[in-house]
Amino acid sequence: MSDKLRLGVNIDHVATLRNARGGTTPDPIRAAKLAEAAGADGITAHLREDRRHIRDADIEALMEALETPLNFEMAATQEMQEIALRHKPHAVCIVPEKREERTTEGGLEVAGDDNRLATYIEPLAAAGSRVSLFIAPDEAQVRASARIGAAVIELHAGTYTDLHNEGRHAERDAELARIVEMSALAHSLGLEVHAGHGLSYETVGPVAAIPEIMELNIGHFLIGESVFVGLEAAIKEMRALMDAARAS
Ligand code: PXP
Repeated sequence: MSDKLRLGVNIDHVATLRNARGGTTPDPIRAAKLAEAAGADGITAHLREDRRHIRDADIEALMEALETPLNFEMAATQEMQEIALRHKPHAVCIVPEKREERTTEGGLEVAGDDNRLATYIEPLAAAGSRVSLFIAPDEAQVRASARIGAAVIELHAGTYTDLHNEGRHAERDAELARIVEMSALAHSLGLEVHAGHGLSYETVGPVAAIPEIMELNIGHFLIGESVFVGLEAAIKEMRALMDAARAS
């Protein structure tokens, strides 16, 4: 277990803004470099099947430009596997993807699809990428992830953050308890544990305090906050909250 909790900054939302006008600004690569300078330990980018935000050229440019590791999020399709094998990013995070969803709504179904996923992730790991599976904090999914040989799981924090935002605090606390429990189980099975989705200044603390969690991936809130305070200040504030929670 590491005391230093890593922050991965997801820059997809900068690309969403760029694509809204069809031009070249704001540039997600510039945002990634700024995030690195502000203290991000890595950059996360999701190349969706429909290319609604990050595009193929962005992945190429990120691989060239970044000094920190790229966490390449993608669906478990053949096309994405070929792209990942071409670029060999530090990490590949497999996420479920539905065209109509606004963001990655649920966790990956590993338990019911373990044979296919085991075969799917093998060449990615053999190429040197750390394979991460984005799953709900659910025992069957955690155990299946370990069984098929993933190096990392990223626990979906979206239910926890939604319940917080809706003011349903008893249910939020029960969901947080599941994240705590599944982090410990995953760690005991040899998996590296990450978490992400929907985290904000208000919700990051209790997740950052979980000792087995080694990395948080955060995007939407940081990019939104940067409209008001700038990306550097938003990242620094998030980093400070993570460090304070970890130290407590
Ligand atoms: N981790 C994963 C696997 C994701 O799919 C996303 C959303 O793209 C995030 C983290 C970041 O979530 P958010 O943008 O809500 O902070």
